[in-house]
Amino acid sequence: MKIFKDIKSFRDWRKSQSGTIGFIPTMGALHEGHLSLIEKSKRNCNITVISIFVNPLQFNNIQDLENYPNKTDDDLLKLKLKKVDAVFLPNKSIMYPKNSSTIVQELTLSNSLEGQSRPGHFKGVTTIVSKLFNIIKPTHAYFGKKDAQQLRIIQRMVQDLNFDIEIIPCKTLREKSGLAFSSRNQNLALEYRKKANIIKKGLDLAKISLNNGEKSATILKNIISSKINSEPEFDIIYISVAESNSLKELENIQAKEILISVAVKIDGIRLIDNFTYSS
Ligand code: PAF
Repeated sequence: MKIFKDIKSFRDWRKSQSGTIGFIPTMGALHEGHLSLIEKSKRNCNITVISIFVNPLQFNNIQDLENYPNKTDDDLLKLKLKKVDAVFLPNKSIMYPKNSSTIVQELTLSNSLEGQSRPGHFKGVTTIVSKLFNIIKPTHAYFGKKDAQQLRIIQRMVQDLNFDIEIIPCKTLREKSGLAFSSRNQNLALEYRKKANIIKKGLDLAKISLNNGEKSATILKNIISSKINSEPEFDIIYISVAESNSLKELENIQAKEILISVAVKIDGIRLIDNFTYSS
């Protein structure tokens, strides 16, 4: 497994590679969800490249950035075991030299949900992902459906900016309890980690209601919030019932596919989860 810390050495190596290149951008603290993306890339592509970079531009809260788990040694061990071909591991001054003054911003999908509760988050994501796409030059890039809004924004960016890259959406992997895998779970105290599957339970209740013909977004949101609020330490940041592609909030559910998503804060740690529902 090659490890590259600067752009030039990565590019020199990249020039000698041929065939399909699968890319998984990450911020490290790798978990089963990331590993499943890697496995998918390894099944589908000739070469698999991972990046690990905790991108300061996508954090609107300095404390959140400082608390983000950093496990580089463990991560590299996991990647070696997975027989990844190359890891791109730059530092902040490589990715954001002092004189850089250009950002990439998506203007529509970025304003709701996560974008509303974390102002500036998505322009940080689209800026770093487009820089990484330009450096890695993958043919395929793998993104988890847990970050549903991020996935849609990246798909839109690739279309709008004509990146010649196939974006592969990958299913959300869950811990045994039902809690979606997330690097942030590693910061949860055990008592909260055990209880955090209540988020999935709330979403499951909404799904049952949809299966029974419920069409009111307000009722679905009430079902989810009642469940999550049964744990008093859990603060709901938002619950959204939106049209799946445009992410426009719905009241009466008529759309073919909807995205139901939630963000919850537990002991200062922010968790998100969602499901899509097709009628
Ligand atoms: O999903 C993430 O881990 C990050 O948002 C990403 C795509 C690696 C960009 O920093």
